[in-house]
Amino acid sequence: MLSKQMEASLNEQIALEGYASFLYLSMASWCEKKTLTGCSSFMFRQSEEERQHMLRIFHYINDMGDHALTPAIPQPKYDWASIQELFNEVYAHEQMVSESIDRLVAQSYDEKDHKTLAFLQWYVEEQREEETLMRTILDRINLIGDGPQSLYYIDKEISAINKKQIAQETAQGGE
Ligand code: FEO
Repeated sequence: MLSKQMEASLNEQIALEGYASFLYLSMASWCEKKTLTGCSSFMFRQSEEERQHMLRIFHYINDMGDHALTPAIPQPKYDWASIQELFNEVYAHEQMVSESIDRLVAQSYDEKDHKTLAFLQWYVEEQREEETLMRTILDRINLIGDGPQSLYYIDKEISAINKKQIAQETAQGGE
Protein backbone atom coordinates (compact mmCIF):
# COMPACT_ATOMS: atom_id res chain seq x y z
CA MET A 1 0.00 0.00 0.00
CA LEU A 2 1.03 3.58 -0.62
CA SER A 3 0.90 6.25 2.06
CA LYS A 4 -2.24 8.37 1.86
CA GLN A 5 -0.07 11.36 0.87
CA MET A 6 1.62 9.37 -1.91
CA GLU A 7 -1.72 8.07 -3.18
CA ALA A 8 -3.00 11.67 -3.33
CA SER A 9 0.16 12.96 -5.05
CA LEU A 10 0.05 10.21 -7.68
CA ASN A 11 -3.62 10.93 -8.29
CA GLU A 12 -2.66 14.59 -8.83
CA GLN A 13 -0.09 13.43 -11.38
CA ILE A 14 -2.84 11.44 -13.13
CA ALA A 15 -4.79 14.69 -13.44
CA LEU A 16 -1.74 16.50 -14.83
CA GLU A 17 -1.05 13.82 -17.45
CA GLY A 18 -4.74 13.70 -18.34
CA TYR A 19 -4.80 17.46 -18.78
CA ALA A 20 -1.67 17.28 -20.98
CA SER A 21 -3.43 14.68 -23.14
CA PHE A 22 -6.46 16.95 -23.59
CA LEU A 23 -4.35 20.08 -24.12
CA TYR A 24 -2.36 18.33 -26.86
CA LEU A 25 -5.58 17.03 -28.40
CA SER A 26 -6.84 20.60 -28.53
CA MET A 27 -3.56 21.68 -30.13
CA ALA A 28 -3.84 18.83 -32.68
CA SER A 29 -7.31 20.05 -33.60
CA TRP A 30 -6.09 23.66 -34.03
CA CYS A 31 -3.24 22.45 -36.28
CA GLU A 32 -5.60 20.29 -38.31
CA LYS A 33 -7.92 23.23 -38.89
CA LYS A 34 -4.94 25.26 -40.15
CA THR A 35 -4.08 22.35 -42.49
CA LEU A 36 -0.78 21.90 -40.69
CA THR A 37 -1.03 18.13 -41.11
CA GLY A 38 2.52 17.34 -39.94
CA CYS A 39 1.98 19.33 -36.74
CA SER A 40 -1.47 17.85 -36.13
CA SER A 41 -0.20 14.26 -36.55
CA PHE A 42 2.60 15.05 -34.11
CA MET A 43 0.21 16.54 -31.53
CA PHE A 44 -2.34 13.69 -31.88
CA ARG A 45 0.48 11.27 -31.13
CA GLN A 46 1.69 13.36 -28.19
CA SER A 47 -1.86 13.40 -26.84
CA GLU A 48 -2.01 9.61 -27.03
CA GLU A 49 1.38 9.34 -25.31
CA GLU A 50 0.14 11.49 -22.42
CA ARG A 51 -2.88 9.24 -22.07
CA GLN A 52 -0.49 6.29 -21.76
CA HIS A 53 1.50 8.20 -19.12
CA MET A 54 -1.73 8.70 -17.22
CA LEU A 55 -2.74 5.03 -17.49
CA ARG A 56 0.64 3.81 -16.27
CA ILE A 57 0.02 5.65 -12.98
CA PHE A 58 -3.55 4.33 -12.82
CA HIS A 59 -2.30 0.75 -12.96
CA TYR A 60 0.50 1.42 -10.50
CA ILE A 61 -1.81 2.89 -7.85
CA ASN A 62 -4.34 0.07 -8.21
CA ASP A 63 -1.62 -2.60 -8.30
CA MET A 64 -0.37 -1.21 -4.99
CA GLY A 65 -3.82 -1.85 -3.48
CA ASP A 66 -4.91 1.79 -3.53
CA HIS A 67 -7.44 3.66 -5.66
CA ALA A 68 -6.64 5.51 -8.91
CA LEU A 69 -9.19 8.26 -9.49
CA THR A 70 -10.47 9.53 -12.83
CA PRO A 71 -9.79 13.27 -12.85
CA ALA A 72 -12.14 16.08 -13.82
CA ILE A 73 -10.38 17.74 -16.74
CA PRO A 74 -11.02 21.45 -17.36
CA GLN A 75 -11.49 22.45 -21.00
CA PRO A 76 -8.06 23.35 -22.36
CA LYS A 77 -7.21 26.42 -24.41
CA TYR A 78 -8.24 25.98 -28.07
CA ASP A 79 -6.76 28.92 -29.94
CA TRP A 80 -3.20 30.12 -30.46
CA ALA A 81 -1.80 33.21 -32.15
CA SER A 82 0.83 31.20 -34.04
CA ILE A 83 2.50 27.80 -34.30
CA GLN A 84 5.47 29.34 -32.45
CA GLU A 85 3.23 30.25 -29.51
CA LEU A 86 1.71 26.76 -29.51
CA PHE A 87 5.07 24.98 -29.31
CA ASN A 88 6.34 27.42 -26.70
CA GLU A 89 3.38 26.36 -24.58
CA VAL A 90 4.07 22.66 -25.18
CA TYR A 91 7.63 23.17 -23.93
CA ALA A 92 6.47 25.16 -20.90
CA HIS A 93 3.93 22.44 -20.10
CA GLU A 94 6.57 19.71 -20.29
CA GLN A 95 8.82 21.69 -17.95
CA MET A 96 5.94 21.97 -15.49
CA VAL A 97 5.31 18.19 -15.68
CA SER A 98 9.04 17.55 -15.10
CA GLU A 99 8.95 19.70 -11.96
CA SER A 100 5.97 17.74 -10.72
CA ILE A 101 7.80 14.43 -11.32
CA ASP A 102 10.82 15.83 -9.46
CA ARG A 103 8.57 16.66 -6.49
CA LEU A 104 7.18 13.10 -6.55
CA VAL A 105 10.72 11.70 -6.57
CA ALA A 106 11.62 13.91 -3.58
CA GLN A 107 8.48 12.74 -1.77
CA SER A 108 9.41 9.07 -2.43
CA TYR A 109 12.83 9.69 -0.89
CA ASP A 110 11.29 11.40 2.13
CA GLU A 111 8.86 8.52 2.66
CA LYS A 112 11.53 5.89 1.92
CA ASP A 113 9.05 4.54 -0.63
CA HIS A 114 11.47 2.57 -2.82
CA LYS A 115 8.80 1.01 -5.01
CA THR A 116 7.44 4.39 -6.08
CA LEU A 117 10.95 5.70 -6.50
CA ALA A 118 11.72 2.83 -8.90
CA PHE A 119 8.39 3.33 -10.68
CA LEU A 120 9.13 7.03 -11.23
CA GLN A 121 12.48 6.42 -12.92
CA TRP A 122 10.70 5.76 -16.23
CA TYR A 123 9.04 9.19 -15.96
CA VAL A 124 12.31 10.94 -15.15
CA GLU A 125 13.84 9.57 -18.36
CA GLU A 126 10.68 10.21 -20.40
CA GLN A 127 10.57 13.85 -19.28
CA ARG A 128 14.23 14.34 -20.17
CA GLU A 129 13.53 13.01 -23.66
CA GLU A 130 10.37 15.08 -24.10
CA GLU A 131 12.03 18.32 -23.00
CA THR A 132 14.93 17.68 -25.40
CA LEU A 133 12.50 16.95 -28.24
CA MET A 134 10.47 20.11 -27.62
CA ARG A 135 13.62 22.23 -27.38
CA THR A 136 14.80 20.78 -30.71
CA ILE A 137 11.46 21.66 -32.29
CA LEU A 138 11.63 25.23 -30.97
CA ASP A 139 15.21 25.60 -32.24
CA ARG A 140 14.13 24.43 -35.72
CA ILE A 141 11.12 26.75 -35.72
CA ASN A 142 13.36 29.69 -34.79
CA LEU A 143 15.86 28.71 -37.47
CA ILE A 144 13.15 28.67 -40.13
CA GLY A 145 11.96 32.10 -38.99
CA ASP A 146 8.66 33.70 -39.95
CA GLY A 147 9.06 34.39 -43.68
CA PRO A 148 6.17 33.92 -46.15
CA GLN A 149 6.67 30.14 -46.54
CA SER A 150 7.75 29.42 -42.98
CA LEU A 151 4.56 27.56 -42.04
CA TYR A 152 5.09 25.19 -44.94
CA TYR A 153 8.66 24.43 -43.85
CA ILE A 154 7.78 24.18 -40.15
CA ASP A 155 5.05 21.67 -40.94
CA LYS A 156 7.42 19.67 -43.12
CA GLU A 157 10.03 19.66 -40.36
CA ILE A 158 7.58 18.55 -37.64
CA SER A 159 6.27 15.85 -39.96
CA ALA A 160 9.82 14.53 -40.42
CA ILE A 161 10.41 14.61 -36.64
CA ASN A 162 7.12 12.77 -36.08
CA LYS A 163 8.02 10.03 -38.55
CA LYS A 164 11.44 9.65 -36.93
CA GLN A 165 9.81 9.32 -33.50
CA ILE A 166 7.39 6.67 -34.78
CA ALA A 167 10.27 4.71 -36.34
CA GLN A 168 12.25 4.88 -33.07
CA GLU A 169 9.26 3.75 -31.01
CA THR A 170 8.55 0.88 -33.40
CA ALA A 171 12.19 -0.20 -33.15
CA GLN A 172 11.96 -0.05 -29.32
CA GLY A 173 8.74 -2.06 -29.28
CA GLY A 174 6.20 0.74 -28.99
CA GLU A 175 6.96 2.93 -25.98
FE1 FEO B 1 3.58 12.98 -19.51
FE2 FEO B 1 4.87 14.84 -21.36
O1 FEO B 1 4.26 14.61 -19.68
